Amino acid sequence: MSELQDNILAVLNDGAFHSGAKLGLALGVSRTAVWKQLKKLEAMGLPIESVKGTGYRLAQGFELLSAAHISAYLSQAGAPMPTQIEVFRSLESTNTYIRERAVKRAYGGSVVFAERQTAGRGRRGKEWFSPFGASIYMSILWDFEQGAQALEGLSLAVGVAVRRALLELGLANVSLKWPNDIYVDGKKLGGILLEMIGDPAGHCSVVIGVGINVSMPVVAGLDIAQPWTDLRSESLSPILRNELAARLIHQIFTLLADFETVGFAAYRDEWQSADAFDGLQCTVSTPRESATGVLMGVDDGGAVRLRLADGTIQRFIGGELSLRLTK
Ligand code: BTN
Repeated sequence: MSELQDNILAVLNDGAFHSGAKLGLALGVSRTAVWKQLKKLEAMGLPIESVKGTGYRLAQGFELLSAAHISAYLSQAGAPMPTQIEVFRSLESTNTYIRERAVKRAYGGSVVFAERQTAGRGRRGKEWFSPFGASIYMSILWDFEQGAQALEGLSLAVGVAVRRALLELGLANVSLKWPNDIYVDGKKLGGILLEMIGDPAGHCSVVIGVGINVSMPVVAGLDIAQPWTDLRSESLSPILRNELAARLIHQIFTLLADFETVGFAAYRDEWQSADAFDGLQCTVSTPRESATGVLMGVDDGGAVRLRLADGTIQRFIGGELSLRLTK
């Protein structure tokens, strides 16, 4: 994003109308230059309203993410505070950013948000569509002492924490799809991508990436290859992204504080009560093979259990697996 676009946004973020001429004057450019940049911002997905003779403003209820606002929500709630909160207008991927920083210095307990991602990543090498201001794109870095073994089921537990944050905002029918999709009524609302850095046998860090669709432009959504939804469609009241960001941090940091001690077993019942596919006929696929059976929930390690036609139970754990309803 260019400096001029950034400056235009900073002015529009007060929610009021600004004429093209005044914007140009304030920023030292022509109104045509302002108009061109506004068009580009709109094309990125920003909800800009224009009224002839009055000017431009950001759509009502839209707010840019702000570290100060997020911190204010957190301190008001008495929530755990990240060591640092960074907000970027544009990043390749918040997971990639935090990963690269973590290699250079201690970064544990920090959180990064981006308004858009130019190379957002989903599970199994898929792209994660990340238009400007349409979602929450966040990553947290957390240091663990006891190695990979203690992290079994962490990504499922993060799903429980994300669901708790959404319940607090009044979303009553959020479900979870193994291993870590956030669903509402059979449609995907968000996803979680965990990546490990360091020594799987000892001290390691985990990048926890969370993407939640808030107000996805319909055109951008056409590129998403599965049924999806966003909070704008599912929530009765408008969702403030800074508040949502703070609630996600609150719930995920509360979980991280003692996950190494309590493990996934402490979250299993809640996960199962929210399981979108429980008891349904499903197919689990790896890059090489697939198995079909009835989904029987998850075990204490976060592995999904499938009852095959011969009555045996087969467990599957993480990685490159995909799970879908059998047609
Ligand atoms: C999935 O369901 O496939 C996981 C999606 C995870 C997307 C988030 S958005 C923030 C973070 N940065 C990324 O590049 N990906 C994760």
